[in-house]
Amino acid sequence: MGHRSGIIEALVMCLVMSVQLLCATAGVRPPAIYVFGDSTLDIGNNDYLPGPDVPRANKRFYGVDFPGSVPTGRFSNGYNIADFIAMNMGFTRSPPPYLSLAQRTGLLVRSSLSTGVSYASAGAGILDSTHAGTNIPLSKQVKYFGATKSHMVAKRGSGAVNHLLSKSVFLISVGSNDLFVFAESSQNKLDAVHESDDVAALYSSLISNYSATINELYALGARRFAIINVGMLGCVPAARLFAANASCLDSLNKLASDFDDALQSMIAGVAAKLPGLAYSLADFYGFTETVFSDPGAVGYTDISGACCGAGELSAEEDCLPTSTLCANRDQHAFWDRVHPSQHAANLTAMNFYHSRPGRWTMPTDFKGLAEAS
Ligand SMILES: *[C@@H]1O[C@H](CO)[C@@H](O)[C@H](O)[C@H]1NC(C)=O
Ligand SMILES: *[C@@H]1O[C@H](CO)[C@@H](O)[C@H](O)[C@H]1NC(C)=O
Ligand SMILES: *[C@@H]1O[C@H](CO)[C@@H](O)[C@H](O)[C@H]1NC(C)=O
Repeated sequence: MGHRSGIIEALVMCLVMSVQLLCATAGVRPPAIYVFGDSTLDIGNNDYLPGPDVPRANKRFYGVDFPGSVPTGRFSNGYNIADFIAMNMGFTRSPPPYLSLAQRTGLLVRSSLSTGVSYASAGAGILDSTHAGTNIPLSKQVKYFGATKSHMVAKRGSGAVNHLLSKSVFLISVGSNDLFVFAESSQNKLDAVHESDDVAALYSSLISNYSATINELYALGARRFAIINVGMLGCVPAARLFAANASCLDSLNKLASDFDDALQSMIAGVAAKLPGLAYSLADFYGFTETVFSDPGAVGYTDISGACCGAGELSAEEDCLPTSTLCANRDQHAFWDRVHPSQHAANLTAMNFYHSRPGRWTMPTDFKGLAEAS
């Protein structure tokens, strides 16, 4: 008798321990991720947009290192930053593109309740006017999320949905395209660009619309924001073409880093006003700057040129089926004339997920944001 109850006790003990283990593991993954922004995160929305001028990564060599070696709409040789952030958080990859689900409400609801949805669109900016007509601008991405939420609520009720959304991660990376468009329009005075009143006016409209976006998402139930700032725009191969000796274009970098400063104060200000809002702001700019100061340390042999393209720095053309690829894609920081390689995306996401607070993320890293109870 005593022997048997010992076994039962051990079994019960074991059960308790495995439940604890299971719960501990389950606590790591947020219920879902909702993704907003541009080509750094787009995983195929633009493939569903009509028109010849829509930027689409829907042919080779995009996706050459993706499972199955297929183009998926990601502006990468493989996975992109959204995928790696999702993987770090316990998902298989980025949640699917909204436009692949929009016509099938059942699928949209299932995805939005189980993993999330991506609204990111290559070419999109904070302003509707940025590359207008060839992408889903940020304001429309938020509207699509609102439509998604209505379907979720119809299925599960608003209490359950608001609870799920409050624990989910809202990942945003946007702003580069607005700054690129601005710099292109003032190309001939690029060096003076950051001095002018135009820049102040630009920042003020970008920041006020970015802030409006966060407020709208908050009103729709978002509470946890993972925000990636604008990276070193002046160091992408397409920008280096305009600098001496393939160095970075300082004026464009300054345009980005000043914007990032304004973004940081805006987010801190918004967070202070919205009860229950938590955020992690990732410093893409600072992280890249550090990596580029010692590229060999992470295995890069080339941080200036594109892997896929043509001409000087392989940056005079987009990555096309006729392009010649570099020999070792993981040793290149850039895949095409503007976008990071899969390796760079992996490295970046990993450092945003695990980061000493204040190093690449503030006030907490993406892990702290995702796991907060
Ligand atoms: C700014 O944001 C508002 C609210 O999201 C949006 O309706 C408007 O179109 C945006 N303005 C521009 C210029 O993008
Ligand atoms: C470019 O590189 C050459 C050769 O290394 C050097 O002599 C020249 O000063 C450089 N120019 C600039 C603008 O950095
Ligand atoms: C991403 O990086 C991690 C850590 O270095 C590595 O284990 C993993 O294989 C990488 N993933 C891909 C798809 O390259």
